[in-house]
Amino acid sequence: MSHHKQLTIGLFGFGVVGEGLYKVLQQTPSLNASIKKICIKNPGKKRNAPDALFTTDKDELLNDESINVIVEVINEADAAFEIATTALRNGKSVVSASKKMIAEHLPELLALQQETEQSFLYEAAACASIPVIRNLEEYYDNDLLHGIKAIINGSTNFILTKMFEDKLDFQQALLLAQQLGFAESDPTLDVEGYDAINKWTFLLTHAYGIIEHPDNLLFTGIQNIHAMDAAVAAEKGQQIKLVAQAQKLSNGKVASFVLPQFVPQDDHLAFVKNEYNGVVIESGFADKQFFYGKGAGSFPTASAVLSDISALRYDYKYEYKKLYHHQPNELTKDFYLRVYVSFTDWKYIPRDKFEWIEEWHAREERKYLVGVLPVAELFEKNWWKENSTSLILAAQPIIEDTSIQKLKKKSLELAGVLD
Ligand code: HSE
Repeated sequence: MSHHKQLTIGLFGFGVVGEGLYKVLQQTPSLNASIKKICIKNPGKKRNAPDALFTTDKDELLNDESINVIVEVINEADAAFEIATTALRNGKSVVSASKKMIAEHLPELLALQQETEQSFLYEAAACASIPVIRNLEEYYDNDLLHGIKAIINGSTNFILTKMFEDKLDFQQALLLAQQLGFAESDPTLDVEGYDAINKWTFLLTHAYGIIEHPDNLLFTGIQNIHAMDAAVAAEKGQQIKLVAQAQKLSNGKVASFVLPQFVPQDDHLAFVKNEYNGVVIESGFADKQFFYGKGAGSFPTASAVLSDISALRYDYKYEYKKLYHHQPNELTKDFYLRVYVSFTDWKYIPRDKFEWIEEWHAREERKYLVGVLPVAELFEKNWWKENSTSLILAAQPIIEDTSIQKLKKKSLELAGVLD
């Protein structure tokens, strides 16, 4: 019989995820894992667990030698970092769902894992119930991973679905996402794309060995999407989704961003509604694979935490294979994007920055165009997020540096500008 480690857990946080985990663990006695103490911030709240389990003193968990696993599912990134690093230094394994903390401190957390040789697992921090980190880490060889396109924020996907299919207004849809426990306590983190880019930061590490601070990545959320944009999408038989994308270019470098994108109805991601997440992986020989599941909420997130706890029974650790055992990939800004932009006045749009514009329309309330921009224009400038301007990527948005001249010529010929 194999021998599994007895896991004694100190749990930080008893909110949507913490309470979910408590219930899920009660239903999985075979795991041989028990919660010894739960550290909370507010002792006044009524809790659905015995009083004796709770404390407000973090050292009761962090200094208890019988506790060998710290599960940290709290909201505040700074406190989470303090807890996780202290626990690792004290010789404990750590399971975390704090995506913001992980994204902002990745280099320190990598160093600390090497130094302490403790496990630090965080499957629940991205795509909740979908085992995306372990898949990227274990299954895909760097050279074979051509690209990833994913919906990784449940709240914004929920809001877009409710607005454009069920005709709720933005505020109603957001309120519902909050009531159901999907939204961050500061919902602008979801709406403006911060949560998605935080998750994308470490997914890029497990996929490609890339380490980059979220501030240096290209992203926005759904805050500028206008009703007319959804109408245009519907006319084209498409949907608008907030899509995280990474693609290996022919020079071996990686193009990456989290931006709203038009998604054709027959795309796998069009199937992803409400709080579900979806990940489409394109790899050599296998073509496309689609991972789908709940990306937010109490039990779906707890299920990923549970799976990490279970993996600790055999001392599982992320090896960061793409970073340490392969040649890590580099990000590039040498590519172009085909974009749709809707706006109120041409004066807000730097027309001369476009390689070419292939469509433009003026409707009563707003105007829109479809054109091609060098991606540096979006990294360096903010016009595309200001003055109620809305930028949405076309489906298949990436154009490589090497094909831009040919495509430009063709597009100008089509427009009748050249003979
Ligand atoms: N606020 C997050 C989301 C929760 O909506 O996806 C899950 O990480």
